[in-house]
Amino acid sequence: MIQTLISKITAEHVGQTITIKWRIQNSRSSGKVSFIELRDGSGYLQCVAEIAKPQAESDKLQGITPEKFEQFASLGQESSLSITGTVSKHPKKDEYELHVSDYSLFWLAKDYPLGTKDDHGPEFLFDNRHLYLRSKSQVAIQKVRDTIIHATYDWMRDNGFTKIDAPIFTPNACEGTTELYSVEHVNGEIMYLTQSGQLYIEAAMYGVGRVFDFGPVFRAEKSKTRRHLNEFWMMDAEIPFIQQDENMQIQEDMLKYLITQVVEKNSKDLTEIGRDTAPLEAIINKPRPRMTHEEFVDDLIAKWFDVKQGDDIGSDIEMQYMEMIDTPIFLTHFPLGIKAFYTKEDPNKPWYWLCSDLLAPEWCGEVIGSSTRDDDHEVLLAKILEHGLDPELFDWYLDLRKYGTVPHAGFGYGLERLVRWFCGLHHIRETIPFPRYANRIRP
Ligand code: 4AD
Ligand code: MG
Repeated sequence: MIQTLISKITAEHVGQTITIKWRIQNSRSSGKVSFIELRDGSGYLQCVAEIAKPQAESDKLQGITPEKFEQFASLGQESSLSITGTVSKHPKKDEYELHVSDYSLFWLAKDYPLGTKDDHGPEFLFDNRHLYLRSKSQVAIQKVRDTIIHATYDWMRDNGFTKIDAPIFTPNACEGTTELYSVEHVNGEIMYLTQSGQLYIEAAMYGVGRVFDFGPVFRAEKSKTRRHLNEFWMMDAEIPFIQQDENMQIQEDMLKYLITQVVEKNSKDLTEIGRDTAPLEAIINKPRPRMTHEEFVDDLIAKWFDVKQGDDIGSDIEMQYMEMIDTPIFLTHFPLGIKAFYTKEDPNKPWYWLCSDLLAPEWCGEVIGSSTRDDDHEVLLAKILEHGLDPELFDWYLDLRKYGTVPHAGFGYGLERLVRWFCGLHHIRETIPFPRYANRIRP
C-alpha cells in the first residue's frame, strides 16, 4: 500500500491501493453512496464509499462494512482521518478519485462553525481567522503568497543579490516619524518597530554588493483602506552604482518573473478564487509606461478628480485611477516634500526627487516604492535636520556617506499588495495569515 500526497497522484496510481491522510473539506451522501472531499494541503480528492458487495457483482468498487459506511456518511466537516482505497479516473473531471476500502478516524469534528454552505460575513470570518485559513479560497491565496516569496528569493539569488536580515527593533525612523510604534527596551530606552529594513541593508551593501531583505515591518497608520495593514511583509533591495532608470528596469524584470511564476505554478489556485489571469498574462511582456507626478496630477485633473499640483495623492484616488488603466505604470519625480529624507533630488529637474512608485492596475495602485539615495554627506545631514529627525540617531547612516560613498538606488515591495493584485482580491486582509489593521489584532 502506498502512502502519498494528493498532488502526487498520477495516472500510474490508477488501479493501485493508496492511503491519504488529513481532513474532510466537504461531504454528501445519497444513501447508497457517500462522497467525501478530502483535503491534505497539497490538493483535494473525492473519496467514494459504498457498502461492500459480493466480489462477483462488482470488482470495481471494493466497499466497506455497513457499520463503517454509516459512520462515514455522517462524518462532520473538518474531521480528520486516514483513508485507504483504489485510485480511479474521475468519471467527469480531469482528476482522480478514491474508492474507499477502509479508513480510520483520528478525530470526529462536530458542528464546525465555518460550514461551507453557510454564508458568513467578513467580521465573523476574521474573528475565526484560525479556522477560516482552512477554506479553499484561503488555502489558494496562501499558496500564491508562498510562490511569490520563493520566486523572489530565486530571482534575487540569480541576479547576484545577497540576503541580509535587517533588525526589527530600531533606534531611528526610516519612513517618517508619524507612523512609528514605540517599545520600551529592557534598559528603559525607547526603540521603534522597523518600518523598512532599507537603511540597514544599505550598510550591508557596502560589504557584499547587491542586497535584499525580506521581513515583517510595522506602520502605526490609522488608515482604514482596503490596502493598508499595520504589520506587513516587505522586501527591500539595494543596488550600488545604478541610476533610477536601471532601478526601474530591475523592478520590471523581477516583476515579470514573479507574475510568470504565479501564473504558471498557481493556475488551479487562481481558478479556485475566481481570478481571471488574462489581465496578468497580458502585461507580462508589455513595457511599463513611465509618467511624472506632474503628468499624473494633470491627468487626474483632466479626469475630474479634485486634486492640484504638489498634492500627495491619496490611496482612494490612486486606486480609482488605476482601475481605468490596464498596465502597471511607473510614477516618477515626486515633488520635494512628499518622499523620505534619504531620497536624492534630480540634478536635471530641481525640486523633484529621483524616485518612482510602481502602480498596479485593477484597483491596486502602489505596490513598489523606490528611489535613488542621496549619497552626499552634507546634503543628507541637512535633510535629516529639515525633516526634524535627530542627527545623532543617524550618525551610523551618515558614516556610510563619509567612508567611501557610492551612488546607489533601491526599492521595496509590499508582499500583501502583490498578493492582493495577483489574486484580484478586494481587501488586503485576505492576503496575510493573521492580519493586523486598524480594528483588528486578534486572533
Ligand atoms: O513606499 P514605502 O513606504 O517605501 C519604503 O519603505 C522604502 N524604504 C522601500 C525601499 O526603497 N527599500 O513602502 C514600500 C511598499 C509600498 O510600495 C507598498 O507596497 C507597501 O510597502 N506598503 C504597505 N503595504 C501594506 N500596508 C501598508 N500600510 C503599507 N505601506 C507600504
Ligand atoms: Mg510608498
